[in-house]
Amino acid sequence: MTAAEFVAQLDATNQAVLRRLEPEATLKPEVSGTLNVTNLLKVALKNEIEATEIAARWLVTTTDVDVKMAFARQAGDEAKHYRMIAERLGELGFDAGGFDPLGQGFGPLFKYLDSLTTTVERVAAGQFTREAIAVVKNRQFIEFCDRAGDRITATLYRDVIEPDERFHHQLGRSLLLRLATTAETQEAARQVSARTLALAEELQGAALRTAGIHHAPGC
Ligand SMILES: [Fe+2]
Ligand SMILES: [Fe+2]
Repeated sequence: MTAAEFVAQLDATNQAVLRRLEPEATLKPEVSGTLNVTNLLKVALKNEIEATEIAARWLVTTTDVDVKMAFARQAGDEAKHYRMIAERLGELGFDAGGFDPLGQGFGPLFKYLDSLTTTVERVAAGQFTREAIAVVKNRQFIEFCDRAGDRITATLYRDVIEPDERFHHQLGRSLLLRLATTAETQEAARQVSARTLALAEELQGAALRTAGIHHAPGC
């Protein structure tokens, strides 16, 4: 199949899985005492620093100029998100200055992404799929902020962060259209996308069980 047909098919497959993460299913559950915007933003800091670092690692290991600049753009955006979230945390009374979101090491999704070696896999997993997940999670988080009465955090996500994550997904789409042109590259892209989604579902399930977290924002 052509790259365009493949990307449309992959998108449809991803969206079908992502619907399981959508608000209807996840926004209803009861919010436990410690589940508040501040604590969710601390989770966001970890996601943003991991997204920054994976994009930066990948940008130095490719010679393809378009790919390099796509990862560079993403790394910069994720670092910007980190700073904005840290500032918002400060306004909410939490000083992120002394906080190391990687204090307990990298998470499973980062480790999986870091194991990918080909550009088509990295773009399919790290941009096209991970960023599509981020868009869904951020929509959920915006709703959470709205319900919590935190207009400022909701606006930060609605006006800046979510559009950036959508753009990262689009970067992945345009690169996949150029890279996923053979049966082999398409199969590789399909497999890493499925694994990324499965990990996201597992992580969401684990977060739900251990911390009662339903709406942690993504990158
Ligand atoms: Fe981000
Ligand atoms: Fe992103």
